[in-house]
Amino acid sequence: MQAASSFDVVVIGAGAAGLFCAGVAGQRGLRVLLVDHAEKLAEKIRISGGGRCNFTNLETGPANFLSGNPAFCRSALARYTPRDFIALVQRHRIPWHEKHKGQLFCDESSEDLIAMLLRECEAGGVTRWQPCRVAAVRRAAVRGFELDTDRGSVRARRVVVATGGLSIPKIGASDFGYRLARQFGHRVVEPRPALVPLTFDATAWAPFAALAGLSLEVTVSTGSGSAAGRFLEDLLFTHRGLSGPAVLQISSYWQPGTPIALDLAPGQDLASALREAKAVSRRQLGNELATRLPARLAEAWCAPLGHLAARPLPEVKDKDLAALAASLQHWMLTPAGTEGYRKAEVTAGGVDTRELSSQTMESRRVPGLHFIGEVVDVTGWLGGYNFQWAWASGHACAEAL
Ligand code: FDA
Repeated sequence: MQAASSFDVVVIGAGAAGLFCAGVAGQRGLRVLLVDHAEKLAEKIRISGGGRCNFTNLETGPANFLSGNPAFCRSALARYTPRDFIALVQRHRIPWHEKHKGQLFCDESSEDLIAMLLRECEAGGVTRWQPCRVAAVRRAAVRGFELDTDRGSVRARRVVVATGGLSIPKIGASDFGYRLARQFGHRVVEPRPALVPLTFDATAWAPFAALAGLSLEVTVSTGSGSAAGRFLEDLLFTHRGLSGPAVLQISSYWQPGTPIALDLAPGQDLASALREAKAVSRRQLGNELATRLPARLAEAWCAPLGHLAARPLPEVKDKDLAALAASLQHWMLTPAGTEGYRKAEVTAGGVDTRELSSQTMESRRVPGLHFIGEVVDVTGWLGGYNFQWAWASGHACAEAL
């Protein structure tokens, strides 16, 4: 029988968190094996940010993350910051730029970041097996773990699970991390698609389907108390529902069966503005609305008003103006669902953080077993926060191995 290969650490999952953690651990002098079942390396990094990878956000803080345990991410984020990652990117001479609200992107290609992470692994002498399937992980009789893989048995003092979430199954996402967590007695906060377009019942959506392609800045909110979310971002109408940054952000907070509230004219007091216009103008209501909103939106909103939309403003009652303004600025609608993992950028939920150390990402149940990145119940907003969590959690873990 072939003898088992032996390593200090096996990292399962060569995505953002796993590659980064493996490189740091290797450079600390540990013998690291990095295993991934996918044919291609780090596909999610490659396709992220439209191929330019929004690799961090300058404004990253715990408030940008959802978790059943919101304080969990605090320590790792504070100990490895966007500045630390930028320093690494600069050491590798990768050109980058800030796009919007602190979001940093590669100037050229996300391939640059993948190459950087690979060089860091090489500098740490990391062994990489890919594609390679892990069939089983168990505790060794004396100390550490034994793994059964396509390339034979492996022994290791520690195992780091960095298998990510369920989004985009066609590029390697799996529930392996959740299954492994449960196998070792961990609770898993029910995973759900997040940063995902919202869909509506086809009949209810029919009046808005013609708006597909229209984009405008809105305020969107949902929930209440500590579970509430509110964003000022761009909204995109689609054939099946709503998308765009505003809706991706709010989808992470949305609970099935509950409404979202939209203000389609943020920063305006439409009711007062229409009343004031009525005092000085005989313009038709529909035309007046089109001076304050995108024309297609004004048209869609006027359609159900019938003749009222064609009336000169002075002939429209104040209460009708107020009702029209409210329908635009307090638009309440209940999504039927989401576009699911096929379109979700991330998975919310995951390995329950109450059973992990926030300093080392190590299991409190099984010494030597760590969970990092998206597999953990820490989900960032849109805008580079999820990669920053991958780097920060990977770093906290690597320092403790
Ligand atoms: P990640 O998913 O990167 O890696 C997990 C790895 O584990 C994969 O390589 C997978 O093959 C492997 N694996 C899974 N199961 C396995 C098994 N059973 N055995 C072995 N290996 C296994 N975030 C951001 O901050 N900025 C952005 O611009 C974007 N853009 C973006 C676009 C799109 C289209 C998506 C889908 C996602 C984003 N994200 C993002 C989110 C970001 O990609 C994500 O949060 C991180 O990649 C998570 O890093 P992880 O290493 O945890 O998982």
